[in-house]
Amino acid sequence: MNGVPKDTLTVIDHRTGRQYEIPVQDGAIRAVDLRQIKVSADGGDPGLMTYDPGYVNTASCRSAISFIDGEKGILRYRGYPIEQLAERSTFLETAYLLLHGELPSPAELDSWVRNITHHTIIHENIKKFIDGFHHDAHPMGMFVSTVAALSTFYPEAKQIQDETSRRNQIFRLIAKTPTLAAFAYRHSVGMPYAYPDNDLSYAGNFLNMMSKATEVKYTPNKTLERALDVLFILHADHEQNCSSSAMRGVGSSHADPYSAMAAAAAALYGPLHGGANEEVVRMLREIGSTDRIPGYIDRVKRGEFRLMGFGHRIYKNYDPRATIIKRVAEEVFDVTGKNPLIDIAVELERIALNDDYFVTRKLYPNVDFYSGIIYEAMRFPLDMFPVLFAMGRTPGWLAQWQEMLLDREQKIARPRQIYIGPPARDYVPIEERGGR
Ligand code: ACO
Repeated sequence: MNGVPKDTLTVIDHRTGRQYEIPVQDGAIRAVDLRQIKVSADGGDPGLMTYDPGYVNTASCRSAISFIDGEKGILRYRGYPIEQLAERSTFLETAYLLLHGELPSPAELDSWVRNITHHTIIHENIKKFIDGFHHDAHPMGMFVSTVAALSTFYPEAKQIQDETSRRNQIFRLIAKTPTLAAFAYRHSVGMPYAYPDNDLSYAGNFLNMMSKATEVKYTPNKTLERALDVLFILHADHEQNCSSSAMRGVGSSHADPYSAMAAAAAALYGPLHGGANEEVVRMLREIGSTDRIPGYIDRVKRGEFRLMGFGHRIYKNYDPRATIIKRVAEEVFDVTGKNPLIDIAVELERIALNDDYFVTRKLYPNVDFYSGIIYEAMRFPLDMFPVLFAMGRTPGWLAQWQEMLLDREQKIARPRQIYIGPPARDYVPIEERGGR
């Protein structure tokens, strides 16, 4: 192969006998480079496409935000290992890192926290439409709708190319998601809304809005406040997952960030994504005791249902977030008392990780396997779990959205298809169609 550049892929099209050199960069070829591969030279041949349902092997962007090595179980935000951030950072500092690319100086952090803290209040009219939801409305449904509705309060958010406008919407979205989440919860339990307390930390204020009753000032438990903050850090970004892809996809049409984030939250709602934490607790309750685990695993292996909180598109090793969450669980249980579901979860994990079915498919616990158990111990109702996930993921969604807007290579997201429907045919009037 003398003379052929090294960083290329040689493709021989046996349909035509032609040979092509396709450049390889960063371990990828550009799908558009395949378009030159045609069977016929006339204009009707669109050229070769790739077919990739679920985008299993397609990079949709170049991103500098988070890095995952699924084989080794590594997750980093902007280069920093998730373990170090969970140990030493705060959620708001991590949010700054994701959005700005660097850790803030003390002055930058101060101003960032102040700006977010002063955007926590929501317009009183938003309360009115939360009031309009049925009493048993799922908080995630309320969350998705109210995030979308925020766009009507901030029409300037349409100025997505304006840096100041973008920054203001970022402050608002990070600041207001806990308020929307807590108000949705208070509506579902029939309690009066508790307003933000800007003296408290991000997680502390959220606990205040969730739990405050008649006391003049709510004081969060320090361990639970820190545990929640760590959980938010762990959920803050995870490269091109389903919801972040929805954020980028909708944002690529230049919709405002509230509309794009409502779409991202809707994608997160599904049980195969952020809804899994809720499903894990339901599953553990259904199993009920450790002696019933082998029977349950047998049913999973027969394909009756999936083991929720297990498996991941990218991780083919232990999800590093699950390791951290297991440790946080112990700290939370010291305050709340042990959630008995943990014993079932630990035994379920032990049995699954020794079972050929899970070993050969490289199915390990993911972030959701243990997070629900902590949330439950902290007395969050089941249907709030995906909302908690959404709050944590908000800075990641916004960082992905901003990166997409500033990336000159990005275009409106518009995949191709392989048409498999009928060929052209003439319309048949209804009276000529006969009985079917
Ligand atoms: N339980 C049992 N079997 C499973 C599971 C599971 N949880 N996950 C995957 N498998 C099996 C599949 O049946 C398939 O087996 P086969 O090769 O014999 O057909 C094989 O493992 C590969 O599975 P895919 O569905 O191809 O894997 P994919 O990458 O598309 O799915 C997903 C990833 C959706 C996370 C999947 O593992 C799953 O459904 N897990 C349960 C739901 C869950 O926990 N979701 C949370 C993910 S983390 C997050 O979003 C924050």
